[in-house]
Amino acid sequence: MLKVGLLVGRERSFPDALIAEVARRDAGVVAEYAKLGAPQMAERPPYDLIVDRISHEVPMYASYLKNAVLQGVVVINDPFWRMADDKFFANSVAAALGVAVPRTIALPNKSYIPGVVSESLRNLMYPLDWDWIVSYTGLPAIMKPASGGGWKDVYKIDSLGELLWRYDQTATMQFILQEYIHWEGYVRCLCIGRQDVLVTNWDPRRSHFDRYRADDTPVEPALEARCRADALKLNRALGYDMNTVEFAVRNGTPIAIDFTNAAPDFDISSLKDKYFAWVVEKMADLVINRAKQGPVYPTHRWDHFLPRNATA
Ligand SMILES: Nc1ncnc2c1ncn2[C@@H]1O[C@H](COP(=O)(O)OP(=O)(O)O)[C@@H](O)[C@H]1O
Ligand SMILES: [Mg+2]
Repeated sequence: MLKVGLLVGRERSFPDALIAEVARRDAGVVAEYAKLGAPQMAERPPYDLIVDRISHEVPMYASYLKNAVLQGVVVINDPFWRMADDKFFANSVAAALGVAVPRTIALPNKSYIPGVVSESLRNLMYPLDWDWIVSYTGLPAIMKPASGGGWKDVYKIDSLGELLWRYDQTATMQFILQEYIHWEGYVRCLCIGRQDVLVTNWDPRRSHFDRYRADDTPVEPALEARCRADALKLNRALGYDMNTVEFAVRNGTPIAIDFTNAAPDFDISSLKDKYFAWVVEKMADLVINRAKQGPVYPTHRWDHFLPRNATA
């Protein structure tokens, strides 16, 4: 029997449903909530695959998962990919892939940890040319954390004065500033296994629990196809097996807004029955297939040096 461990935060609906669905398939795989105390180095966790929904908020889990990968456990999402991403880098990847994104700037940090003094920052030009920054992004602009989620600290900036005021509050957090997209439509894609994509209308103006609407008119076919293709490109390049990808649609062109969600919201209260059922079905397919397939080598630098991968 292959074993799948789920590492979760507060959510219950998605992990409970995934565990039940994997059991229902009767495919030689069992899924359960993972259990760990203080992990020992170089030890293999007792799972063939771990679904990670929370290591971005629990640092020790991230250490545990990296060792799990080293020991040959399949981890979804791959913790090394997740750590490589920030919104500035991801927007650059998107641009390189030909996926439309808002013009984006990485803002230097406002403050640093104790010990970082002005001599530590000799590479940074100062003062910043704020007029140039704003002429590049335009106004209004969106200021948001380079690594963030859940709409936390996302600000719409209407003037240079407001930008400077906001920037002064950022302390040690790293932010990006980007062009504000005035959209006529907004699309969100649920993406699983770098192959399955559900393209939906999604309205960020509605309240949190009312944004997905399975009863809404479907996304127009040409737009749907473009969003699906762009979402797949992003997930394949950035290595996400589960992700949500958002596009703001301006003059018919989908512009990628948010596409680095290592633990996307899969709760039934947001997805509602139809999309929730789709997610559970595709995630069950994914964990069963990937647990059976085992780790795919080599994925990481050290893989080349491990005895298990030595080739004649
Ligand atoms: N460049 C942008 N133009 C227009 N709206 C944006 C832009 N960036 C973010 N938003 C709006 O703000 C919301 C939250 O931003 P997002 O990048 O998704 O942050 P988080 O990762 O915290 O969810 C988005 O769903 C979108 O509605
Ligand atoms: Mg978002």
